[in-house]
Amino acid sequence: MNILLLGSGGREHALAWKLAQSPRCDALYAAPGNPGIAAHATLVDIDARNRDAVIQFCRSKAIGLVVIGPEAPLVDGLADSLRSAGFAVFGPSAAAAQLEGSKGYTKDLCVEANIPTAGFLRCTSAAQALSALPGFGLPVVIKADGLAAGKGVVIAETDAEARAAIEDMFGGGFGAAGAEVVLEQFLTGEEASFFALTDGVSVVPFGSAQDHKRVGEGDTGPNTGGMGAYSPAPVLTPELEEEAMARIVRPTVNAMAARGTPYSGVLYAGLMLTADGPQLIEYNCRFGDPECQVLMMRLEDDLVDLLEAVATGKLAGRTPPRLAPETALTVVMAAKGYPGKVEPGAPITLPETDNVPGAMIFHAGTALRDGALVASGGRVLNVTATGPTIGAARDEAYALLDRVDFDGGFCRRDIGWREIARADPQT
Ligand code: AMP
Ligand code: GLY
Repeated sequence: MNILLLGSGGREHALAWKLAQSPRCDALYAAPGNPGIAAHATLVDIDARNRDAVIQFCRSKAIGLVVIGPEAPLVDGLADSLRSAGFAVFGPSAAAAQLEGSKGYTKDLCVEANIPTAGFLRCTSAAQALSALPGFGLPVVIKADGLAAGKGVVIAETDAEARAAIEDMFGGGFGAAGAEVVLEQFLTGEEASFFALTDGVSVVPFGSAQDHKRVGEGDTGPNTGGMGAYSPAPVLTPELEEEAMARIVRPTVNAMAARGTPYSGVLYAGLMLTADGPQLIEYNCRFGDPECQVLMMRLEDDLVDLLEAVATGKLAGRTPPRLAPETALTVVMAAKGYPGKVEPGAPITLPETDNVPGAMIFHAGTALRDGALVASGGRVLNVTATGPTIGAARDEAYALLDRVDFDGGFCRRDIGWREIARADPQT
């Protein structure tokens, strides 16, 4: 089968690496891809926003499966256009991608399907939000409704901060994403990411991970897209995972089908493990980045088979994908300045990883300049390793990272710290 993968980050490099390993993959194309993806796929220069160009390309290469990596083209309806043109697509319709595209949409669905989530109010004006504020106590969580590249959430510790965040969002600080705002009760607990594959009717769990969203060690500083992750996340015990499937994921899939907008693709649930059980913080309509990288390191099944079963509505009766019991851990190397403004162009020299079992350096924001590898984004590399324990995976990943020559970059040195402290309090 010929496959087209859309996207250009570390998530897509991990997907390309795994898709290319399948004996069922004849030709793999990636648009636009990156220099790491180029080792597994033919790069094509098509903009995912140009739907006609994507469809034309799929026709010209007899593409049997399109895999859409990032959320923006999904929320924008690319999967709908491709399906109308007769192509099998891994990724939800625009209507179903509202689970990520609108926080208020998801909150209403939680009420309708009795899904545990923080108490909330959808607000369409600053005056409404400001007058409701006292009812939420402190801290209070204030969210721009739409897509804001992970930056549209403020946890306000004081009334003044809360008011400023509300004024900022309605004042256009987050563009169109802030035209509506959701106020939420603050939940306490540990966070875990949980993944499920669904074709709209059947659902299978697809593992857990824990991300590190803050830029600084000890989980301090501004939020980022994610500075490192590991999988599995043992805090999500098999019992809690079953509870999340029964009380959150399956009711969501059923409610989406009942609304006439079945959700097909990977459903990424951001969970808060509270004293009262798992609660839904948010949904994403795609794999996490960098969570995907650690899931792909552990996946033992054929990714083409899996994604095709999801895309063609043939998940019924399949056993859940097999994930190796090892822990995989990835450390993000970012360009200095991230998550603020970064200068592209810093040179990178990578160590040889071909002969290192269980180790991969995924490219997230790299480019070739005059044949030499340089940084081209905020998050640049995902240095990834597996091990029998999280401590072993961490040691391998940092040993590999220390062989990367990237003076323009930085990383957190404490990825996995919570779990490592639990697993081995001596280290
Ligand atoms: P989101 O973009 O919805 O994942 O929110 C970003 C981060 O804000 C989450 O990963 C949580 O750490 C935090 N967060 C969001 N909602 C809540 C909540 N209701 N209570 C506590 N923390 C939250
Ligand atoms: N790593 C967080 C995300 O992909 O949304």
